[in-house]
Amino acid sequence: MSHSHAWNTFHRPRRLRRVDAIRRMVRETRLSVDNLIAPLFLVEGEGIKDPIGAMPGQFRMSIDVMVEHAADLADLGIPGIALFPAVPDDLKDTVGTEGLNPEGLFPRAIRALKAAHPDLLVVSDVALDPYSSDGHDGVVEGGVVLNDQTLDILGKMAVVQAQAGADIVAPSDMMDGRVGFLRHALDEAGFSHVAILSYTAKYASALYGPFRDALDSAPRKREGIPEDKQTYQMDPANAMEAQREASLDQLEGADMIMVKPAGMYLDVIRRLKDMAEVPVAAYQVSGEYSMIHAAAEKGYLSLDAIAMESLIAIRRAGADIILTYFAADIARRLRSQ
Ligand code: PBG
Repeated sequence: MSHSHAWNTFHRPRRLRRVDAIRRMVRETRLSVDNLIAPLFLVEGEGIKDPIGAMPGQFRMSIDVMVEHAADLADLGIPGIALFPAVPDDLKDTVGTEGLNPEGLFPRAIRALKAAHPDLLVVSDVALDPYSSDGHDGVVEGGVVLNDQTLDILGKMAVVQAQAGADIVAPSDMMDGRVGFLRHALDEAGFSHVAILSYTAKYASALYGPFRDALDSAPRKREGIPEDKQTYQMDPANAMEAQREASLDQLEGADMIMVKPAGMYLDVIRRLKDMAEVPVAAYQVSGEYSMIHAAAEKGYLSLDAIAMESLIAIRRAGADIILTYFAADIARRLRSQ
């Protein structure tokens, strides 16, 4: 049988895949260190670098250790870090009072980081859960997570963080109207230059488990406390609704919008990228990171290859910015390429 008939092989896409130089030249999506934000976990103390069980290579760090670590990230060219505090139980209450303490762990960390690395952007988390004795992102009363009462607290929290030097505040709570409320509160307090990165489409996902373990921030199993976050985080079945959230956030003044988690929500990233007039971020969350590490530890998948592929996919879907626990590893690899 002859294989020489070329009638059906006039078009040969493989020509553009033949050698690395051509592949590089026609590559449609690029991942740069400029796209990356590294999420980091804070804990009180000194000299503490406490490994997080389900997140190999991630640590709860005391301020001094984090300041040192941040120097490495800045040297790698990573533009920003997103901070999350692990708060001891005895400082938690139902209204997240510790989140408003200007001398609390979080504002002290922001001040130390900005003093040591003025050019490294600090993205601060605005939500009640790290400080809530109920383990919710808002105030719980009568079995309900209250919206507007929570806004008052979030507004104050954002101002405390801005006063400490946060460059970008990132509300992760999913209360209605919080972007506009925060914008107003920040402007009133003289922080019109502080940007808002909104967790616009944050899903009620099972992928946050390792993060909640790291902060001990899961909803408490108690009478009168909703056992999950489904009354405020989005239903994983919905995509149109993400567009509604995006429209509202843009109207309310969000400077950047975010989809979270990332890898299982690539269609949502694309939808928002197609409609948005602001940059779109995506958060590759703890469970995504843990799954990749677990599979690699078992020898089922290659860690480096999958980490890179997962991030390229998130970029291809349309994310301009990616929050990822792989940030430092990837930045190192991008530099040595
Ligand atoms: C809550 C918050 C969560 C994450 C960041 N901020 C999880 C939650 O809703 O409990 C998850 C991040 C991750 O899993 O990496 N405000």
